[in-house]
Amino acid sequence: MTTMQDSPTAAGSGASASSNFKAAALTSAGASPERVSTVVTAVLQGVHAAIRANAVTYPEFQAAKAWLMEVGEVGEWPLFMDVFVEHVVEEVAADAQHGTKGSILGPYYLPDQTRLAAECELPHRPDEKGEPLVLSGQVRDLDGTPLAGADVEIWHADADGYYSGFAPHIPLGNLRGVVETDAEGKFSIRTVQPAPYQIPTDGPTGKLIEAAGWHPWRPAHLHLMVRADGHRTVTTQLYFAGGDWLDSDVAEATKPELILNPADDGTGTRRASYDFELEPA
Ligand code: DHB
Ligand code: FE
Repeated sequence: MTTMQDSPTAAGSGASASSNFKAAALTSAGASPERVSTVVTAVLQGVHAAIRANAVTYPEFQAAKAWLMEVGEVGEWPLFMDVFVEHVVEEVAADAQHGTKGSILGPYYLPDQTRLAAECELPHRPDEKGEPLVLSGQVRDLDGTPLAGADVEIWHADADGYYSGFAPHIPLGNLRGVVETDAEGKFSIRTVQPAPYQIPTDGPTGKLIEAAGWHPWRPAHLHLMVRADGHRTVTTQLYFAGGDWLDSDVAEATKPELILNPADDGTGTRRASYDFELEPA
């Protein structure tokens, strides 16, 4: 059990997510003035239309400003954007893509993790909680050619729903790794079943969710980023059949093609398989 003291706070995970995002420099400058004007005008028109349609009052406008300020002050913009906006950006990108379906990256990716052989166990604490889980599969080209030496990067929450690097009580690199496929493009990764993830309830995003009467949950999931030379990298997530929140993900990032169906192998280990298909770059 986590204690009150070492339990991750919204401000703690928000600040980590913000600094990691800035360090990764995923932002790209260089949009033309026309593009900036077109997109920003459309966003503002959407806000203006919502104000008119709902006759938003001065107190409501000031409450919105105070809330926006708090999101920035505690560093929750990466969390908010990835929960409420990223899925549509991914949907637009997916229109032009073939192969394994993508899903959102989310705010908890960290680069430079431990490299592991094709058959491996993710780094974990000696007393790591959670049902043993093995994910195995193959990485292939669209024409079925196995891709040897591809990277299957994986990261996921622990059995309490927390991510290493964003919760002070979990060692860095825990339940994260970059797995290299074997000569047949295959891999087999031993880990533990992650718990569903809850948006931190003590920060402004959590307060908004509560104020609106929504729920703050994402279904249990594994994050994957699959890379192979000459191919487009697939960033995706895998979910678990029958799991809670699968039909009401707060981040709207599930797809029917991304649901695992693990089965107990008789020893208490749940095994699931998933093959990845990468299109040419
Ligand atoms: C968020 C957290 C996740 O684990 C995820 O996969 C997507 C979004 C978030 O808190 O924003
Ligand atoms: Fe996640």
